[in-house]
Amino acid sequence: MARIAIVGVGAVGGVTAALLQQAGGHELLLCARHPMSGLAVDTPDGPIHVDATVVTDPSEATEVDWVMVATKAYDVAGAARWLDRFCANGAPVAVLQNGVEHRERFAPYVAIERVLPVMVDCPVERQAPGRVRQRGVMHLKVPDCSMGQDFVELFAGTSVDAAAVPDFLSVVWRKLCFNSAGVLSALVLQPAGVIRGEAMGDVALQIIRECAAVARAEGAQLEEDVADVVLAAQRAAPADSVNSMLADRQAGRPVEIDARNGVIVRLGQKHRIATPANSMAVALMEAMVPRG
Ligand SMILES: NC(=O)c1ccc[n+]([C@@H]2O[C@H](COP(=O)([O-])OP(=O)(O)OC[C@H]3O[C@@H](n4cnc5c(N)ncnc54)[C@H](OP(=O)(O)O)[C@@H]3O)[C@@H](O)[C@H]2O)c1
Repeated sequence: MARIAIVGVGAVGGVTAALLQQAGGHELLLCARHPMSGLAVDTPDGPIHVDATVVTDPSEATEVDWVMVATKAYDVAGAARWLDRFCANGAPVAVLQNGVEHRERFAPYVAIERVLPVMVDCPVERQAPGRVRQRGVMHLKVPDCSMGQDFVELFAGTSVDAAAVPDFLSVVWRKLCFNSAGVLSALVLQPAGVIRGEAMGDVALQIIRECAAVARAEGAQLEEDVADVVLAAQRAAPADSVNSMLADRQAGRPVEIDARNGVIVRLGQKHRIATPANSMAVALMEAMVPRG
């Protein structure tokens, strides 16, 4: 059993806390920017009220066995303010964020070998401060190393599908193929169903194909028709689903445009792969929303 700090108690941080509590025996510290009167998570198996200490000031941090960061990618600098004290004894930092640059984002703040990238696949939303709704199973994938196996062990006995996988690179790039096309919905301020239109579907295919080309250049193994598979899955999703980039835009927050599309443009340039659809999406989004 472990003493675990969760930095960022929104959708992913909230459900992670609830499911770690399900494991039994862990001591949880919730690290938030504002005081919280409680954390209630509606899971598919019923409600969980999280019983944990809440801290709001990084100077209150004390040593822990694990840190799990579940802020948005654009909030990494703020999240890193918690790490000096939490990691004084070398505690590992699991990064539960989208994108493919988990280690790069934290490299300025913590020794790279202590950073564990985590691919999160879980339909979950923050309904209000301290109130989270989990709509389906939480899947967590980590690299297959001793730190990854220790992380998976923390979730033993819970409903989380946690696994250490040998080809983590392909897993995160495949997830980015899904996330990359989500920018369209956020640009036009319409839920997921907008991608069912023929013209929007064509643009989505271009965005995903560019992502897949860059992914392969980075060493990811993706099937030839991955873009068609991803688009078909997205068109089959409930038409009223709201992705987190759209939710951020609607709430007037920054968006994870660099972590989800900017990275495709940047790494495309590195490999001399043209990414015009992603470049346009990034330019449009950056012109419309505040930078994080
Ligand atoms: N939601 C999903 O379904 C889902 C699924 C898979 C992956 N992801 C990824 O998981 C990551 C987290 O997303 P999310 O949906 O959980 O975001 P979220 O609901 O916006 O939660 C992020 C939380 O981080 C907090 N935070 C920001 N800076 C902080 C700091 N310096 N110290 C403490 N807390 C801080 C925010 O606090 P405030 O309340 O003050 O804003 C917020 O509560 C993202 O990379 C996202 O793309 C999300």
